[in-house]
Amino acid sequence: MERILVIGGARALGAAVARRAARDGYDVIVGARDLTAADALAGEIGATAVQVDLQDESTLAAAAHRLRDGVDHIVTTGSAPHDVRAVDLDRDRLLAAFTAKVVGPMLVAKHFAPILRPTGSMVLFSGVVGWRPGPGSLVKGVTNGAVEFAARHLAADLAPVRVNALSPGVVDSGAWDRLGDKKTALLGRSAEATFVKRHGESEDVVEAVMWLLRAGFVSGETIHIEGGARHRSS
Ligand SMILES: NC(=O)c1ccc[n+]([C@@H]2O[C@H](COP(=O)([O-])OP(=O)(O)OC[C@H]3O[C@@H](n4cnc5c(N)ncnc54)[C@H](OP(=O)(O)O)[C@@H]3O)[C@@H](O)[C@H]2O)c1
Repeated sequence: MERILVIGGARALGAAVARRAARDGYDVIVGARDLTAADALAGEIGATAVQVDLQDESTLAAAAHRLRDGVDHIVTTGSAPHDVRAVDLDRDRLLAAFTAKVVGPMLVAKHFAPILRPTGSMVLFSGVVGWRPGPGSLVKGVTNGAVEFAARHLAADLAPVRVNALSPGVVDSGAWDRLGDKKTALLGRSAEATFVKRHGESEDVVEAVMWLLRAGFVSGETIHIEGGARHRSS
């Protein structure tokens, strides 16, 4: 049975991946900074919970030690958005955003490389904003762009372990529920900005993750799951 660690696995897309992986017969480890939430989901789907905080390297080292008998796949969904214009940048939040998406996954590679099985893979998370610049999307855009290069260079570094990134468009993953009434408008606008005239569903992304886990001849790539949104001119 292949073992998969899903970081950010207690919520939204991470939880959707963990649920599907458990259904598909993987040995799932739900990694989250909130161990109570990870435990709750793990109990529900027959998985194991482990504390993983991408902002705290000691938790990465501890998780790798706990799982030292081997891991096949790691999916890391962490993000720490800081959606402001350049003049409003807060240095700590800027660094936290890079740590969640880029530095953290690189440190995950550091601690898990010795225990990742050679036929395994890592899946990082980018996002369409990396290819659609706009006011207020500076940090999200640059971190998402950096994820593409992180996947490419980690693929060379960790080979033969495969490393890829997924770049979703706007997906109704639960992350946007915090917008309340404004969520519907956001999803509508984002649907208009695609070729396929709909927003993304968690299952669109989960399908791509599950394919990447098995795609033995794919490494160093960023796969775009966004209905063509980055190709639209408006
Ligand atoms: N949903 C979309 O429309 C969309 C679009 C483009 C790209 N993406 C990308 O897809 C990924 C998943 O997004 P999502 O929709 O599931 O919502 P999200 O709210 O961005 O999910 C982020 C996940 O990362 C976890 N996380 C944050 N900081 C962490 C840390 N320091 N250590 C470990 N985990 C941490 C969160 O857990 P907590 O519960 O602890 O906060 C949550 O599980 C993100 O990278 C996001 O940028 C999503």
